[in-house]
Amino acid sequence: MEEKIKQLFQEFNNRLKADNDAKSLEEIKTDFLGRKSSLAKLFSQIPSLSKEEKAVYGKALNVLKNKMTVLLEQKLSTGQMTEPKTDLTFPSRIPDTGSLHVLTKVNRQICSIFENIGFSVIEGTEIEDEWHNFEALNIPLDHPSRDAFDTFYLDIPESKKGKYLLRSHTSPSQIRVMKNAKPPLAVISPGRVYRPDEVDATHSFMFHQIEGFAVAESLDFSHLKGVLLQFAHTFFSPDVSLRFRPHFFPFTEPSAEVDISCIICRNKKSFVQTDKSCLLAGRRKPQTAKCSVCKGKGWLEILGCGMIHPDVLKACGISPKKYRGFAFGMGVERIAMLKYGVDDIRLFYENDVRFLDQF
Ligand code: PHE
Repeated sequence: MEEKIKQLFQEFNNRLKADNDAKSLEEIKTDFLGRKSSLAKLFSQIPSLSKEEKAVYGKALNVLKNKMTVLLEQKLSTGQMTEPKTDLTFPSRIPDTGSLHVLTKVNRQICSIFENIGFSVIEGTEIEDEWHNFEALNIPLDHPSRDAFDTFYLDIPESKKGKYLLRSHTSPSQIRVMKNAKPPLAVISPGRVYRPDEVDATHSFMFHQIEGFAVAESLDFSHLKGVLLQFAHTFFSPDVSLRFRPHFFPFTEPSAEVDISCIICRNKKSFVQTDKSCLLAGRRKPQTAKCSVCKGKGWLEILGCGMIHPDVLKACGISPKKYRGFAFGMGVERIAMLKYGVDDIRLFYENDVRFLDQF
């Protein structure tokens, strides 16, 4: 037994000298001190020894166990082991950086297109009064078109210009600028607008609009068309065409809604699936499918516009006999959804980095 104890300690020391990393120290611990170790085997022989031998070797084994434990711990704590080498040439992890929100980017892009053709950016106010949001824009109190601009009213005392509200469109910016500045004017006014709409894939109670307008002595619908065509060509693609559909807005006359030719199917209304997608769909021959962006219509509505109504100019102290103006308003979320093929407006507000990272 004595011999075996000596031998075991010898083996232990040899292994301890040879193996230096943390993993092999763990292995030494299992081999020499674990439940199936040689030490455990020696302990199991104790019951078969004589009474005197039991006392001597029992003690000797316990001393050996303590020695090995202390030596192992010493080696671990003094760190005399070789650590795995750090490879300094290995590429480091690129830290995540913040970036502008996609709506901010689209907003800035749109504004800069108009700035490049001479428009100035002037922001209006988010809290408006009834006069600026409605009356001055030719929407009287009892006019049914007020329903189209369903509004959040603020529970605070009224001003001389009616109840306070969260603006339901950016058109009141036209009024604020026209009352305070003299024509010629060419202004772009971006900002948040609020409508008590039920939230779904295409509606939100808060969204962003960009208002644009110009007032000068000789302006007509063709100037409006030219400006909007320039915008569509720069923002979407030089080969999109515009379609003006007659519409009604109380603050413009004549008024129109403007569509661009679908940027996905290029106004073909349907598209031929590629061979790959046919294969995936398990079909042999290419099939045509309805364009999922324009729903087969070939056109996408992007904004509302028109020539500023003479009564709106009058409300701002500008003579409709001398001056004429055009105005347009577009939803930033809608434009961003069309450009990037986003099918749910809520994605813009949820701040999921996996979504935002893509822009
Ligand atoms: N204010 C209108 C809306 O919110 C858009 C618009 C602006 C239409 C300017 C014509 C001229 O729907």
